[in-house]
Amino acid sequence: MKKDFVSIGDLNRDELMGLLADAITLKKERESGRMKAPLRGKVLAMIFEKPSLRTRVTFQTGIYELGGMGIYLAPSDIKIGQRETVPDVAKNLSRWVSGIMARTFSHSTVTGLALNATVPVINGLSDLEHPCQILADFQTVYEKKGRLEGIKLAYIGDGNNVSHSLLLASGLMGMDMRMAYPEGYEPNEDIVKKARSFASTSNGSILITNDPKEAVEKADVIYTDVWASMGQKDEAEIRRRVFSPYQVNEELVSFADSDFIFLHCLPAVRGEEVSAGVIDGPHSVVFDEAENRLHAQKALMVKLMG
Ligand code: CP
Ligand code: NVA
Repeated sequence: MKKDFVSIGDLNRDELMGLLADAITLKKERESGRMKAPLRGKVLAMIFEKPSLRTRVTFQTGIYELGGMGIYLAPSDIKIGQRETVPDVAKNLSRWVSGIMARTFSHSTVTGLALNATVPVINGLSDLEHPCQILADFQTVYEKKGRLEGIKLAYIGDGNNVSHSLLLASGLMGMDMRMAYPEGYEPNEDIVKKARSFASTSNGSILITNDPKEAVEKADVIYTDVWASMGQKDEAEIRRRVFSPYQVNEELVSFADSDFIFLHCLPAVRGEEVSAGVIDGPHSVVFDEAENRLHAQKALMVKLMG
C-alpha cells in the first residue's frame, strides 16, 4: 500500500478487498471480546477544520482499541495554514506521532500534509473526497449483499466529496454505478475520467445522468448525501429548490430491486435529500454503515501505522 490514504484511488482492487476482509475480522474479534492491540504505544494526531461526530469518535475509539491513543486537534487549536503552514505542521507532527488524520476544506491541505509528513496521512474528508466513508460503505454492501462486483449502486444527489469517492471505488470494484445529479452540480470531470478508466479494467460501468429514476432502476443499493455540504450552508436555500426532484423517497425507491439497501454517510436532513420513511424504514442500514466506520478505519490504521 502507499504511505498515505488521500484518495480511495490510492488503493488497487486487491488492497481494497484486503482492507474489507481485515475490517470484518476486527469486527468479529471485537464482538467476541478478543481484541488485540497491534498499535500499542502509537499515537494518531487528528486535525479537524470542520465538525464531526462519526469520524472523530470512530478514529479516537479505533486507535484506543488497537492499543494506541488519539489526539484531537480542533479547528481553533492549530489553525492549519494560518497560524502555521501546512508543511510545518506536517514536519512537526512527524517527529512525535505515528499517523495523521485530517478533515479539511481544501483537498490540497491533505495532499500537502501527505507530501511533507514522514508518517502516514489519512484523508478524513476534504472538499474532493471522503475515502474512509467509502471503506465503511463497501464493507456494509459486502456484508449485506455478499459481493461488490456487479452490484448496481445508485447515488442520487450532489457531485460532492462522497460521490467522488463512490465513483472511484465503484470503478475499482467492477460495480454498475449510476449517478443522478441536477444540472450544474455535476461531479468533478477528472474524477469521472479516472473512475471510467478503473471501470474499463474491472468490467464495471459508470452511468452519469440527470434522471434519478434511470439511476435507481433495479438498484441493489441506493445512496444519497446532504444537498449542502459543510462549507456550503449559505447555498442551502437555492440548493433546496434545485435538488427537490432528487429526494430519495418512497416513490423513487419503488423503482429499485425489492431487496435494495439504503445507505447515507450521515448526518442526514430528513425531508430534504431523503424522506423519513426511507431512512428510518426497513431497507435502511445507515447505522450498520456508521458502525463500520470503526472497523474499516481500524483495518486501515493497522495497515498504514502497524
Ligand atoms: N459521515 C461522516 O463523516 O460523519 P461526520 O461528519 O460526523 O464525521
Ligand atoms: N458531503 C458531506 C459529507 C459529510 C460526512 C459534507 O462534506 O459535508
